[in-house]
Amino acid sequence: MNRRQFVKITGTAITLPIIVPSTVLSQFPPSERITLALIGVGNQGTNNLKGFLQLNEAQVVAVCDVNRASYGYKTASQFLGREPACQLVNEHYATQNRNSTFAGCEMATDFREILERPDIDAVVITVPDHWHAVMAIAAARAGKDIYCEKPMTLTIAEGRHMIHAVRRHGIIFQTGSHERSNIKSRFVCELVRNGYIGQLKRIVTTVGPNNKTAPESYWTPDPIPEGFDYDTWLGPAPYAPYHKDRCLYNFRFGEDYSGGQTTNYGAHSNDLAQWGNNTEYTGPVEVENIGGIWPQDGLFTTATYVHFRARYVKGVELICQTGPENMQVRFEGTEGFIRHGYRGSSCYPENLWNVTLGPNDIRLGTSTNHYLDFLNAVKTRTDPAAPIEIGHYSATLCHLGNIAMKRRRKLLWDPAKEYFTNDEMANRMLSKPYRAPWHL
Ligand SMILES: NC(=O)c1ccc[n+]([C@@H]2O[C@H](COP(=O)([O-])OP(=O)(O)OC[C@H]3O[C@@H](n4cnc5c(N)ncnc54)[C@H](O)[C@@H]3O)[C@@H](O)[C@H]2O)c1
Repeated sequence: MNRRQFVKITGTAITLPIIVPSTVLSQFPPSERITLALIGVGNQGTNNLKGFLQLNEAQVVAVCDVNRASYGYKTASQFLGREPACQLVNEHYATQNRNSTFAGCEMATDFREILERPDIDAVVITVPDHWHAVMAIAAARAGKDIYCEKPMTLTIAEGRHMIHAVRRHGIIFQTGSHERSNIKSRFVCELVRNGYIGQLKRIVTTVGPNNKTAPESYWTPDPIPEGFDYDTWLGPAPYAPYHKDRCLYNFRFGEDYSGGQTTNYGAHSNDLAQWGNNTEYTGPVEVENIGGIWPQDGLFTTATYVHFRARYVKGVELICQTGPENMQVRFEGTEGFIRHGYRGSSCYPENLWNVTLGPNDIRLGTSTNHYLDFLNAVKTRTDPAAPIEIGHYSATLCHLGNIAMKRRRKLLWDPAKEYFTNDEMANRMLSKPYRAPWHL
């Protein structure tokens, strides 16, 4: 039983050893703060860490990463890993004087040490996609609430197992599809759901072009850097020789670790498509390749150009394609359209932005801060803005696109039973084997 479960069951907060005067405490006394550990503190893990550090409702007590500290992340200036993350936490709290019982942030290289700690309420999982399912299921079994980055899964089959574990253990789970906490994104989906562009006919989503270049096809292995536990980084993925472009940030472009930009940005743009289309708890019934392009050889093995079509049971068509926008969704209805993405929004009729939703209109939530929304959900034991099922179905749509682009034929999908009814080869792409000793 962890501290939060104890509090939940007994209704009694555990008394902490030192009580500091309320004048030096923020709004939330230590005993009520949700204790967090961040697993994976690279590019996005550091963003998540900074986001949670801003919130008085949380207390970051530990960080875990298989990398001690290095460059080699998304941008040349990022020097990241468990040591810089730990330093960031300690420096941040040192300026706050918020909790005199805080003994300093702790570091770990093995996430299982984090899961064994009864003083940790929740974990923030920001590791490459091939680790999400194994780690999240282990965390659920350990009774930890989970903020897990998008895309939630590496394969469709993983999502079903994750849902089962999270619901069985009564865990609060937030997927990192943070557009769910973006007011404008929500308003766009509310306009569509409430018929302000007429009947929805077509959705066009974009995913960013590949933003990194693969090493030459005759690449040779690099020496494993000191302080980097490469074998654990690979974890459940097949063994492969180390190369710097396989790992930090660039894992996105390796099929053993990710679904490429289809799942990377698609976990945002296709998630909005699902939200506006009211299909967030299901999926399309058909999916086919239009013009997806895959590399012939080399270290990067995900699509270099994404282009697929999906069709939903009510006839709505979705087209997903590579850029130029990194993330955009365009909803087209019988009476107008709305385009919305990272580079702005437009609509027809132009006065749609002035619409005030009526009392009978569907509303799609209230969250404005994805991290705070998660912490509130942990406290109230209610689903957050992007619960596990939503993460699963959005990731599934992206995986379906990848499978269809590879199979190069129209695939018929049963979204309830989660299998293809016309292609056994495609069904074999619903899961991947795990390297021992890792399993779900
Ligand atoms: N919500 C968003 O908008 C958003 C943005 C960027 C990335 N992401 C997601 O965040 C995840 C990580 O992406 P990134 O860009 O931060 O990658 P990254 O390579 O920069 O960071 C991943 C970190 O995880 C660590 N790691 C790997 N295996 C580990 C393990 N077993 N235990 C502990 N640490 C481990 C790595 O050493 C690395 O520091 C991906 O799923 C990605 O899709 C989400």
